[in-house]
Amino acid sequence: MTGIPVREVSPRATDGEERLEQSLRPATFEEYVGQEKLVENFRVYAKAAKARGEALDHVLLSGPPGLGKTSLAHILARELGVALHVTSGPALVKKGDLAGLLTALAPRDILFIDEIHRLSPAVEEALYPAMEDFRFDVVLGAGLGAQTMEMKLERFTLVGATTRTGLLASPLRDRFPIQERLGYYEPAELREIAVRAARKLALPVEPAGAEELARRARGTPRIAIRLLQRARDFAEVQGDGRLTREIVETTLARLEVDARGLDAMDRRILTVVLDTFGGGPVGIDAVAAAVGEERDTLEDVYEPFLVREGFLARTPRGRVALPPAYAHLGRERPHGKQGSLI
Ligand SMILES: Nc1ncnc2c1ncn2[C@@H]1O[C@H](COP(=O)(O)OP(=O)(O)O)[C@@H](O)[C@H]1O
Ligand SMILES: [Mg+2]
Repeated sequence: MTGIPVREVSPRATDGEERLEQSLRPATFEEYVGQEKLVENFRVYAKAAKARGEALDHVLLSGPPGLGKTSLAHILARELGVALHVTSGPALVKKGDLAGLLTALAPRDILFIDEIHRLSPAVEEALYPAMEDFRFDVVLGAGLGAQTMEMKLERFTLVGATTRTGLLASPLRDRFPIQERLGYYEPAELREIAVRAARKLALPVEPAGAEELARRARGTPRIAIRLLQRARDFAEVQGDGRLTREIVETTLARLEVDARGLDAMDRRILTVVLDTFGGGPVGIDAVAAAVGEERDTLEDVYEPFLVREGFLARTPRGRVALPPAYAHLGRERPHGKQGSLI
């Protein structure tokens, strides 16, 4: 993975995690917690496509990592009774890589391209006719004698996943008739996800333990599950094997996740905005440089949560720390800033 630090509360999956996630992944719409509107829409789209015997229209899923985009692609394939072929933007290096995948698709199959905003321009361009006309253009020969051969493809569904739709060029974005955005989860939903995962792991859970874990999972199912795994270790080694509130608190303290679910990097970002840049407004690039993190990662992974929790605001002039950030980090708000935050 490029420049993404592996941290306990990073919403990105590490390799070893992929396997465990596979087993904890919701298999049906019924098991998929939350995102009600989106799920309701997909139920309808899937049912309609199935009844017509047609491929589902292409789908673009966006949202921060760990919120259930890949899970949703799996569920869609299952509902539609088709195969899911999985790849990612960075994995498709050459046009030929894409051709190989496309020609292997059976009618109505789903091709899932994760991180679709990271496709190379050549591959992206080759994708357009595939999405629109279900054909793939192969150029034979070179120079004046070059000829274009048209390959016909089966009608398939492309499901693309991205952290932000804004990262996609509009010609690509516009070719997705269905576009849905996943949002952060409520604590009650995360509790349900944690409790179900604990059941699968045969880990006894006390309600207060699940509650605490859910409250501090950064609105993200992947983090809830990761915290659960670590808490299980502490429960087995230091506790009586049950997930109690105390065990969850011990675990979170060890992982430096604070009462609001912020981790060390979240706090570092807020500290930089508050202390180095006087609370802002400050440009995202300056923040990125100061915390030593890539701008994209800040924008995709950290910032959306800090914004949603009311710690940070994005303004045309840059990022601004909001009163809860001052309160949370125990800083006095400078006088001049009172009342005129933005
Ligand atoms: N709505 C949900 N209900 C239950 N579990 C979920 C849900 N969304 C995500 N998860 C859990 O979180 C993990 C990460 O989700 P994933 O689909 O891989 O996220 P993304 O692809 O958006 O990064 C999954 O393995 C699954 O266990
Ligand atoms: Mg994914």
